[in-house]
Amino acid sequence: MTNLKVLGVVLGTLAVYTWVANSIPQLESVVPEELSFGADVTEAELVAAGQALFNGGGGCLVCHGLPTRAPNLLTDQGGEGTIGQRCATRVPGADCKTYIYESLTDPTAYVLDGFDPMVFQARVFSGAQLWALVAFLQDQGGPVTVTGADVAAAAEADAAAPAAGGPLTASMDPLEIMRANLCLGCHVLDGEGVATGPPFDGMGDRIDADRIRRSILDPGAEAAEGFQDQLGTMTPTIADLLSARQLEVVVQFLAGQGG
Ligand code: HEC
Ligand code: HEC
Repeated sequence: MTNLKVLGVVLGTLAVYTWVANSIPQLESVVPEELSFGADVTEAELVAAGQALFNGGGGCLVCHGLPTRAPNLLTDQGGEGTIGQRCATRVPGADCKTYIYESLTDPTAYVLDGFDPMVFQARVFSGAQLWALVAFLQDQGGPVTVTGADVAAAAEADAAAPAAGGPLTASMDPLEIMRANLCLGCHVLDGEGVATGPPFDGMGDRIDADRIRRSILDPGAEAAEGFQDQLGTMTPTIADLLSARQLEVVVQFLAGQGG
């Protein structure tokens, strides 16, 4: 199994936990394992690592496992082929590699017709992990052009400014915290945001602070009333990006929404 070979180049596990999404039986998410790839990484190693991330810790299948939630990547989408076949045609001037990389690092820059913008925190992935995902997606029907040089440059950039860990913003303003953490990419408040999950308006009338806190700390555990089919959509690692005080600020703010 190529996956076993990949294990050989995996350095360590940052943190591991599993959760189960009811709507997608037995879907498992494990916080991505760091990759120790350097400039000498082979195409096969990159693709295999990207495949493991895509099917596991990357959390991609939460949305891309259902054609109603996100476009198919491994199979045809709208007659345009698999992602490796259509990636170079999306944005004029952007080649396939650039387009897929930017889909992950700047998901709202280009939004596919008929879908809400992809809500995604590239920051929890290392540069090597992002390039592995790009290589895997290119390999779905197209040539892989990600190189060891891309991976080495990304590793250098990560070392200069570590990507993962720590809050995204230092703000203690609830709205600013929620904007920085993309909560409004899936929830609506006062007309701002996208209505994938339940609205923040009136939330305090529907559930109490304890339940709100639990929902943020362990998003896959319990479905919101009327949103059973969406269980598993909320980013499972979202609380890792909040400081303890920021979490409380958000919990109290949401509990205060309503009559
Ligand atoms: C919360 C839901 C969600 C998650 C999680 C998610 N995506 Fe997406 N993705 C979308 C949606 C919705 C779109 C289409 C809208 C857009 O273009 O932003 C999309 C678009 C894309 C596209 C562009 C597709 C095209 O045809 O041009 C790529 C590539 C992609 N996602 C890769 C990934 C990868 C890789 C992961 C996991 C590391 C991932 N996505 C996780 C929802 C998600
Ligand atoms: C990728 C989309 C997405 C993002 C990002 C997201 N959520 Fe959610 N959230 C959902 C969905 C879908 C549900 C309903 C399904 C469920 O309960 O898991 C939900 C449920 C909740 C609930 C439970 C509501 C109830 O009535 O039980 C709370 C509270 C919540 N989200 C708060 C937040 C906060 C705060 C953030 C940002 C730190 C956030 N969400 C980010 C999609 C998202």
